[in-house]
Amino acid sequence: MKISVIGAGYVGLITALVLADMDHTVVCVDKDELKINKLNHRIPPIYEEGLEELLDKCLNSKTITFSTDIATAIKTCDVLYIAVGTPALEDGHVDMSQSNVIVDSLAKHLDHYAVIINKSTVPIGTQKHITQTLLEKGVSKELFDVVSNPEFLREGKAIHDFKYADRIVLGCESDKAKAILKQIYDPFVSPKIYTTPETSELIKYAANAFLATKISFINDIANLCSKTHADIAVIAYALGLDHRISPEFFKAGIGYGGSCFPKDTRALVKIAEHYEIQLKIVQSAIEINESQKLKPVKLLLNHWEEMEGKIVTILGVTFKPETDDVRDAPSIAIINKLIELGAQVRVYDPIGNKNAQKICPKAQYFEELYHSIDGAHCLILCTEWEEFHDLDFRFILKHMRIPMIIDGRNFLTDRDPEDDGILYFTVGGSI
Ligand SMILES: NC(=O)c1ccc[n+]([C@@H]2O[C@H](COP(=O)([O-])OP(=O)(O)OC[C@H]3O[C@@H](n4cnc5c(N)ncnc54)[C@H](O)[C@@H]3O)[C@@H](O)[C@H]2O)c1
Repeated sequence: MKISVIGAGYVGLITALVLADMDHTVVCVDKDELKINKLNHRIPPIYEEGLEELLDKCLNSKTITFSTDIATAIKTCDVLYIAVGTPALEDGHVDMSQSNVIVDSLAKHLDHYAVIINKSTVPIGTQKHITQTLLEKGVSKELFDVVSNPEFLREGKAIHDFKYADRIVLGCESDKAKAILKQIYDPFVSPKIYTTPETSELIKYAANAFLATKISFINDIANLCSKTHADIAVIAYALGLDHRISPEFFKAGIGYGGSCFPKDTRALVKIAEHYEIQLKIVQSAIEINESQKLKPVKLLLNHWEEMEGKIVTILGVTFKPETDDVRDAPSIAIINKLIELGAQVRVYDPIGNKNAQKICPKAQYFEELYHSIDGAHCLILCTEWEEFHDLDFRFILKHMRIPMIIDGRNFLTDRDPEDDGILYFTVGGSI
């Protein structure tokens, strides 16, 4: 099948490569020339496990091409995926401007039948809206079907998750489009859910809101643990053993981040408001997460009268390990707050420094872990990168001004840093 994927980000690039690896002929389009140039030179524009090898493989087999020419892609492909960004506007509503530009291009260039598959996370009713817009712009209804096919991949495990998704959701009302979807998706072992576009669109938001709520729930309980000496790790473990709950995504910490949960929970609340529905649980999950992010700063303010002149090292700036994505990461909120309060902030992350530097230019970025620690007053561990688990406590005791670790991910608890004489704080423990 000739497939075009529009948008070569975390979702679009992986979609394009996995489909190319299945011997479809794929053209992946992005407006970002730099990104397309990198891809044509076999350089992955993002960090993702297995990406470099898959890119190489697909370029060698010539099943994929990368281009900035959206018009040709639309004119030559039978299947057109939309995988552009749908970030949050200031007020939480979804910014659909990137998607709208693609719809304009479709209206201009579509001259044969194609299935338009929307992979981006979009408000309920978008499939209908795109259909209506194309018809209003004069595209014949014989020339297209629009389908909702939300993506559930996790950054860091994106290739695996795309290939072995827990489920593939397809919101489709046309038999002709369904026959084409079956050709694409039948080879995948994942369960397929064929449903209406509205249901499909809402499944994506509901799934993210549920997972975000799960994290905020355990953080809420962690806050009670810190006052009662109950052990949050044991509680999460015990609850997780109940198969109705599961241990996945159920650890106390400084909150969720990333390009999806924060924006999608806020978007869902706004979408519901439009229908005069108050999503109180989701709203609470958002509020808990916001206050959770700044817990380490609150702790420091309780300890130190003055933040001025203090050197704080942030260990890990990405929203989770195995990705370079720093969008809406809790670390960013912490860095900004500390700088605002007058602290000197150092950052060390194995791969996230570059992305963080673009949004937090006032922090100092380090290439070497122990250089970032030397002379600091406090470490705040924000991302559970494996290398942090092996932190050299002797170095910390010898070279930090105060041997102090705030563990925002409860990642070092099994090493008992306190036994070595380090001031050690955990979420649900002393924070
Ligand atoms: N990142 C994730 O983990 C994830 C997971 C599931 C779903 N999603 C959803 O998938 C969608 C894409 O997310 P992402 O993280 O891949 O976004 P991204 O920002 O990484 O990538 C979007 C890409 O679209 C390109 N683009 C924008 N306008 C364009 C245009 N007019 N023509 C061509 N290219 C254009 C951008 O240059 C960018 O490369 C979003 O709706 C997101 O919510 C993301």
